[in-house]
Amino acid sequence: MTAELATEPVGPAALPAACALLIRFFREEGFATAPDGIARNLEAMLEDPSCWLALARSGGAAAGIVTVSIMRMVEHGLVAELGDLYVLPEHRGRGVARSLVAAAASWSRARGCSAIVVTVTPEGEARHRLSGFYDRLGFATTGRTIRERRLS
Ligand SMILES: CC(C)(COP(=O)(O)OP(=O)(O)OC[C@H]1O[C@@H](n2cnc3c(N)ncnc32)[C@H](O)[C@@H]1OP(=O)(O)O)[C@@H](O)C(=O)NCCC(=O)NCCS
Repeated sequence: MTAELATEPVGPAALPAACALLIRFFREEGFATAPDGIARNLEAMLEDPSCWLALARSGGAAAGIVTVSIMRMVEHGLVAELGDLYVLPEHRGRGVARSLVAAAASWSRARGCSAIVVTVTPEGEARHRLSGFYDRLGFATTGRTIRERRLS
């Protein structure tokens, strides 16, 4: 029998499970943020009303995570950005990510966002063919690129 899937917002009690998933995600994908930085940033997100995190559980065990943050801009008003999306390898291909993204979209819509966006890194594209995944979930390419200047 397939374990039942459920999605829930992350509160303080689920923070360690959320943190463990993100530490694993960052390690597997090669993101530089250290575990203590991940934990600090997650705690700050829980306190910030413009951010939201949700866990997917399979038969009660943590199976995936999504984080979303809202930005306010002149062009589109409020826009949500999917910051992190990760599903444990053994739970992939069962609609876990689809349900996490649906939950994030619904939270963002309820807060007045006009769109939800995501950044696909070249590494993510090479490893997981993320453009095909986001096509399936209705995210169109914009042709715009992201540039970054570090502020130290
Ligand atoms: C990408 C990832 C989140 C997908 O999770 P998942 O739970 O397996 O995805 P789902 O089962 O919900 O799939 C949703 C749809 O996308 C499709 N899909 C899933 N992975 C895909 C891929 N790599 N390429 C193309 N399509 C894909 C599924 O077939 C499904 O299509 P359908 O529902 O229309 O039939 C997961 O592979 C993962 O965690 N990868 C590593 C982390 C990562 O790269 N995260 C994204 C950061 S931007």
